[in-house]
Amino acid sequence: MTTERAPESYLRLMPKVELHCHLEGSVPAATAVALARRNGTELPTMDPDTLYRFDDLEGFLDIYRAVSRAMVSAADFATVTYDSLVDAARTSNLRYREMAFNPTNHPGVPLADMLTGISEGIQSAERDCGVVGRIIVAFNREQPPELATELVRMVADADSPHVLGVGLDHNELSGPPQLFVDAYAIARAAGLARTAHAGERGNVAEVADTIGLLDVDRIDHGYAVLQSADLIRQSIDRGLHYAACWSTSAFHERGGQVSSPIAAMAAAGLDVSVSSDDPPFFATDIGSEYVQAGESIGWDRVQARQQVLRTAAATFLPPAERAALCARLAAEFDAYDET
Ligand code: ADE
Ligand code: ZN
Repeated sequence: MTTERAPESYLRLMPKVELHCHLEGSVPAATAVALARRNGTELPTMDPDTLYRFDDLEGFLDIYRAVSRAMVSAADFATVTYDSLVDAARTSNLRYREMAFNPTNHPGVPLADMLTGISEGIQSAERDCGVVGRIIVAFNREQPPELATELVRMVADADSPHVLGVGLDHNELSGPPQLFVDAYAIARAAGLARTAHAGERGNVAEVADTIGLLDVDRIDHGYAVLQSADLIRQSIDRGLHYAACWSTSAFHERGGQVSSPIAAMAAAGLDVSVSSDDPPFFATDIGSEYVQAGESIGWDRVQARQQVLRTAAATFLPPAERAALCARLAAEFDAYDET
C-alpha cells in the first residue's frame, strides 16, 4: 500500500464512523421550517436561507433549541433520524453513528414517543442503506440537574435497545460537571456508557472535573486538554477517547490561540476522532470533516483506515458488536482499496 497522502476523493468515500453528532443539530433548515409550520412552533425566521446564521455558541444554541421545539411527534423524530443517517451514508459512506439527542428540549413530548420515532428511523436507515445508528441521551446542562436525574431514571427504565449512553450538552459556561455527579452515577449503575461536552471553549478545569467527577468513557470536544500536559498523560493512561469536530472547533476557536486543536491533540498522542456535530448548522457533513482532518494532519490511506478503526473501537457498543463492526469495516476497507 502506498504512503502517499490519501486524496480527497479517497477520504470522502471511505467507510466512516462518527461518535459526536446531535440529532437536533442534523435537521436541514428547510426541514426545520416545514416542521415548525406544521406543528405551529416559532423559529427566529421562517427563511431557510438565513435560519442557520449565528455569531457564537449562544446564538447557535438559541436556534438549536427552537428547531428542537419544532420536533414534536414520533413521526418527526423518525423522519429526522432517517433522513440524516441516509444522507450521511449516501454522501459520505457513513457506516456507523452515535447520535445524541436532548429530550428536555422537547417540552411536552413523551420520552417514549421520541425513542420510538428515533428507533424507527434507525431501523429504516439500516434496512435501506446498511448504516447503523445508536442513541446517546443527553442532558441540557443549562437546566436544573434534577431534570437530568429524572431523565436518566426514565431512560434506564425504558431500556431501549438503541440507547447506549448519556451525554452532557450545551453551554459549558453554565452547568458545571459537579452538578451532574448523581445523574452520571445513576447512568453508570444502569450500565449506560458516559460522555460529556467539556473544554470546548478553553476551560481546562472543566475537562479535569469531567474526568474526575463523572467517570466518563469519552469527552466530546475537549480541546482545552491541550493546556495541561498532566491531563494529556492522564487521558492517555485511562484510554480516554476525545470525540472532536473539525468545523465546530474551528468556529469556536476563531480568535483563540489554537488554530487546529484536533491536529495538535493527535500529535500529543491523544485518542481523538472527528465528527460532524451539527452538520447543516455549520454547512458541513461527515465526509468534509474527515477530508479536512485527513488533509490537515496528512493521513496516508493506511492512517485514514486506522483512524476509522480506532473510532470504531471507541463506540459504546457492547464488546461483541463493537468487534463485529471493526471486522466489517476492515473488510469494507479491503474491498474499497481494491477498487
Ligand atoms: N449541542 C449541540 N451542539 C453543541 C455544541 N457544539 N456544544 C455544546 N452543545 C451542543
Ligand atoms: Zn456537540
